[in-house]
Amino acid sequence: MRRSVLIGTGSALPKRAVGNEELARQVDTSDEWIVERTGIRNRYIAAQDETTASLATDAAKKAIEAAGIDATSIDLIVLATATPNQTFPATATIVQDALGCNGGVAFDVAAVCSGFLYALGVADSMLRSGMASRALVIGSETFSRILDWEDRATCVLFGDGAGAVVLEAHEQADGEERGVLVTRLHADGAHNELLHVDGGPSTTGTVGKVRMKGREVFRHAVVNLSDVLNEVLDEAGLTTEDIDWLVPHQANARILEATGRKLNLPAEKVVITVDQHANTSAASVPLALDAAVRDGRIREGDLVMLEAMGGGFAWGASLVRM
Ligand code: UT7
Repeated sequence: MRRSVLIGTGSALPKRAVGNEELARQVDTSDEWIVERTGIRNRYIAAQDETTASLATDAAKKAIEAAGIDATSIDLIVLATATPNQTFPATATIVQDALGCNGGVAFDVAAVCSGFLYALGVADSMLRSGMASRALVIGSETFSRILDWEDRATCVLFGDGAGAVVLEAHEQADGEERGVLVTRLHADGAHNELLHVDGGPSTTGTVGKVRMKGREVFRHAVVNLSDVLNEVLDEAGLTTEDIDWLVPHQANARILEATGRKLNLPAEKVVITVDQHANTSAASVPLALDAAVRDGRIREGDLVMLEAMGGGFAWGASLVRM
């Protein structure tokens, strides 16, 4: 059986850290409100010369180094973002050129906060089908560029960053089980107005700003996430007890707690970085994954569940044996 094995992770953050107190000087909010409602204490905000492509390239270089491979051997780049450098071409092609692996496949996927899960699903399918052999899967965002900095209900929630993984196609014997085991993706376009950007090339001709009805999104997130996690576990013939680590999309500490509770998953098995990075949309899952790999929590052989839910609505989960 051909499977996509995760052989390296990497991440990158902008230089500038912004704490809650700094935001409280700009909009009518407080450290107390932000921490109590979201668990967020800090986020990183990109400078003008830090872009989605440059953060993605930095994260990709670290993942390539961790994998111990030559960048020129990458024949597929799938980059998830809602904040591309340009409307076209795909930001993945800018990263490809910066890494010097020109000539392979490179494209972006747009699934906002679930973007990394969608990118992983697409790359895994292409590796298993034989269309490519070594893939970079990246989630990268400069979400700060599409925030309305006068809207306290959204601007305190998001941050910038990038995370990347290298996937490699391996032929595995019966009984061998390493790599991406099961991925399930969903979308429901009926909820556009609950979380969207109010602009675009084909409508307003502007980039637009993020608009969110947070409370409703919260409600849907907890239900959709626990459903898709159970769906993936059922498909894999496994239970919650088999999971070593849950690496969730980092939108809100209360969503992470509620999802963990619904699954009966002990809190110490959930990787949490939302306090430090805030919600980095497509970058949040690979940023959290890289943090837990680098600090030694996630090790080879561990069973890791990745999940995300956001604008679209789009949501999904993936079970990976490291
Ligand atoms: O990544 C994509 C997925 N996104 C999510 O999963 C986000 C899901 N939603 C959430 O995380 C939460 O709904 C929020 C953190 C966005 C909001 O928390 P909430 O407990 O649902 O608060 P709320 O929106 O119901 O607002 C409660 C109050 C309101 O005031 P009133 O009407 O009760 O007087 C808001 O105006 O809090 C007010 N408020 C704020 N106060 C201080 C809203 N934003 C702020 C703020 N600082 N930044």
